[in-house]
Amino acid sequence: MPLKSRITGTGSYTPETILDNSDLAKKIDTSDKWITARTGIRQRRVVKGSETNSDLCLKASENALQSAGIKAKELDLIIVATMSGDQPMPSTAAILQNKLGAKSAAAFDINAACSGFIYGLTVADNFVKSGSYKKVLLVGAEVNSKFLDWKDRATCVLFGDGAGAVVLEPTGGKKGILSTHIYSDGSMWDFICLPGGGSNHPPTSKTIRDRMHYIKMKGNETFKVAVRTLEKLVLDTLKVNNVKPSELAMLIPHQANMRIIAATAKRLKLPMSRVAVNLDKYGNTSAASIPIALDEVVREKRIKKDDYVMLEAFGSGLTWGSALIKWG
Ligand code: UT7
Repeated sequence: MPLKSRITGTGSYTPETILDNSDLAKKIDTSDKWITARTGIRQRRVVKGSETNSDLCLKASENALQSAGIKAKELDLIIVATMSGDQPMPSTAAILQNKLGAKSAAAFDINAACSGFIYGLTVADNFVKSGSYKKVLLVGAEVNSKFLDWKDRATCVLFGDGAGAVVLEPTGGKKGILSTHIYSDGSMWDFICLPGGGSNHPPTSKTIRDRMHYIKMKGNETFKVAVRTLEKLVLDTLKVNNVKPSELAMLIPHQANMRIIAATAKRLKLPMSRVAVNLDKYGNTSAASIPIALDEVVREKRIKKDDYVMLEAFGSGLTWGSALIKWG
């Protein structure tokens, strides 16, 4: 049997501070009614004080390592999927490696925005399948609150902070990650972007004045592409693996918008009881949304051995991707 990778531990962490829709309605021209109806989001978590992305990573990772029953020093590789790292350089993964004391691990970040966890899973899975690494820690973590324009109601109500982590190890059996699929279309790069701070627009007083260091989004255009793309993606992923939609035990979608999640579930004819939803509590936590939701369904024992579990995401790039797992 060729090697596969298997998720042997999950963990997550979200900051304590809760910002609910009514808090936002006091500051900007919005309402709980609009946010709930258009997105499904009721509240989000935000970091307080000096709490950083790598701090969130550390707590989620410690939980994942504990659930896998391994020590940080046993790790061969750490990947952090993020678009809101501690600083542009070095990688947040390197900072996490130091905080964990994971001295034997190589470490790097992946930026595929909201699809980052699926991209990271694809890379991690290939390192394990090839026999290169035996113990890989993959974290999806975001501190989106520091990159939001709190005057822009079209974006600031959507995003939140948090982190989720998984440990991957090799397996020779039939269970584990069956397939991963990643895609991108850079022609729509400006649908969701953060234009300032890179080499195209290095930070100046003008880029700050022009509010270029915040997330911008063409929400409605993105919404339409997301619904169309995800419907095809989930059906294609099942087909490749010869699995029927009715055999799917759990769909764990990226948590951007309840209407997008419901449209995908409808296409698969899946009841919402078999769909992981937590955007009401955390908003859109970008690369962290899938691993946080996965950790929740594992801890709530909503998935069991041999279940088919699908992960799917869509985000800036544009990027999208999926994974099918036979759990156990
Ligand atoms: O995670 C990465 C991928 N991201 C996504 O997939 C996000 C995809 N997009 C979406 O989820 C939705 O497009 C949004 C939730 C962002 C927006 O919902 P929408 O139904 O597409 O609304 P819209 O952008 O077409 O705006 C409708 C109206 C506008 O007013 P007018 O022009 O009709 O008068 C907006 O100005 O809603 C207004 N609006 C708001 N009103 C109250 C926009 N934001 C708000 C707000 N509160 N926060």
